[in-house]
Amino acid sequence: MNGFVSLVGAGPGDPDLLTVKALRSIQQADVVVYDRLVSDEILALIPAATARYDVGKRCGQPSLKQEAISELLVTLAGKYKRIVRLKGGDPYVFGRGGEEALLLVANNVPFEVVPGITAAIGCAAATGIPLTHRGLSRSVTLVTGHVQDGGEFHGWSGLVKAGGTLVFYMGLERATELRRGLLQAGAPANLPIALVAAGTTRQQRVEVTTLACLEQTAHTLSGLTPVLMIMGEVVQLRAELGDMAETLLQSVA
Ligand SMILES: C[S@@+](CC[C@H](N)C(=O)[O-])C[C@H]1O[C@@H](n2cnc3c(N)ncnc32)[C@H](O)[C@@H]1O
Repeated sequence: MNGFVSLVGAGPGDPDLLTVKALRSIQQADVVVYDRLVSDEILALIPAATARYDVGKRCGQPSLKQEAISELLVTLAGKYKRIVRLKGGDPYVFGRGGEEALLLVANNVPFEVVPGITAAIGCAAATGIPLTHRGLSRSVTLVTGHVQDGGEFHGWSGLVKAGGTLVFYMGLERATELRRGLLQAGAPANLPIALVAAGTTRQQRVEVTTLACLEQTAHTLSGLTPVLMIMGEVVQLRAELGDMAETLLQSVA
């Protein structure tokens, strides 16, 4: 069997944020391989007869290693015609989609990438925080808080110099390091920050704080996942735009 793999972005959680193409791919798949960030509401859209593989960490079970997931896709392409690899957000934004794509290419497995709404974009809309705004922010930088093999991040001054909005993925556990690195690079202690847990879902929780108080506020969200950090003057707009955004969240499936 010469299978075709679709690396599909499932968006940040709200099933209404799936693209038409993502939904069609899910409905036509012979097998779906998904990870922990894909919401239950989206998993419910997979037809009952479709084979499925949960490769994420749930209920204390260990997740499959990235290499094993990529190899699983190659194996499934030998057994099924349409394979969907469903990922939270967008596959090419901190989603390790590139690693899976490279192994598919190396094994001559045809594939496509179906983009999804990444957490930064979804959370911005759902919290009333425009990521760019005339007079406040001319740029937005997506940064991972995760550093490979316990290494150190050295790019703080570049991030601060850019002067725009910073969005940290996977940053909650590294709040101390983020605060220190940004302050040392010259970011103001009163830099506004929004911490967004489970953005775009009915469980969404938002805490607005400052760089100086980042750790204390991060602590109040410990145990909640996933969490995104939006940093910059644009966070202030939430005071005017947040209520409407959150009222609309109540209609999320
Ligand atoms: C491994 S990265 C995956 C990112 C994903 N590929 C994307 O494009 O959104 C996981 C991180 O994304 C962020 N994230 C994903 N979905 C989120 C959501 N609904 N609310 C808040 N943060 C989210 C969190 O920072 C989380 O630690």
